[in-house]
Amino acid sequence: MKFFIDTADLDEIREAASWGVLSGVTTNPSLYARTGGKLADFEPHMVKICEICEGLPVSAESTANTTEEMIAEGRRLAALAPNIVVKLPVCEASLPATHQLASEGIRVNMTLVFSAPQALMAARAGARYISPFVGRFDDIGDEGLDHLAEMVTAVKNYTYGYWDEEGGPEIITASVRTPHHVTQAALLGADIATVPFGALKKCLKHPLTDQGLASFEADWAKVVASQ
Ligand code: E4P
Repeated sequence: MKFFIDTADLDEIREAASWGVLSGVTTNPSLYARTGGKLADFEPHMVKICEICEGLPVSAESTANTTEEMIAEGRRLAALAPNIVVKLPVCEASLPATHQLASEGIRVNMTLVFSAPQALMAARAGARYISPFVGRFDDIGDEGLDHLAEMVTAVKNYTYGYWDEEGGPEIITASVRTPHHVTQAALLGADIATVPFGALKKCLKHPLTDQGLASFEADWAKVVASQ
């Protein structure tokens, strides 16, 4: 399974990219708002992310409401950099927009996906990526991972005739909160997990690693002292 980072924060993206484990970036309007960015800076900001992560897919979300506006905004975003992926929310307006953009070779990440029928329709319309949200189910007392399991199985049962040569459509496990979500996404066969920086750091930690490191250091100090 590949790791994407779910943030619009340039420092977080730079640091995660330096680890050598990053395969892409996802952003959304809330994540951009969190950076304090202004409207006029949105597109330049996306270009900066694309430059930091050259060659890796960077999802920039459209805020358009109609099919025509989504197509126009999708074309404009895609022209910003070769690694831009246009993020569209799954809905009646976005399916024809996805279909049109896919026919032009523009990659769409269909977001806010919460059910297998939504995921299947996203795939049929030509989405390059499909983003089922896990944590938001957990937030309302439901089991996000159960829903993810349904969506992965449903989508992976079929082929769709788009993006085959790139191995698409790929499933991005989104709304990830914990290392447990990451583990289970991998066991369920999701292609990607997009993880906020804080949760990404938690994925690297284990108390037994810390304990083991402390005891190695203490024992090595004895060896050094014995010289
Ligand atoms: C996905 O691409 C979204 O940006 C993101 O995962 C949403 O997560 P949240 O539920 O933590 O806002």
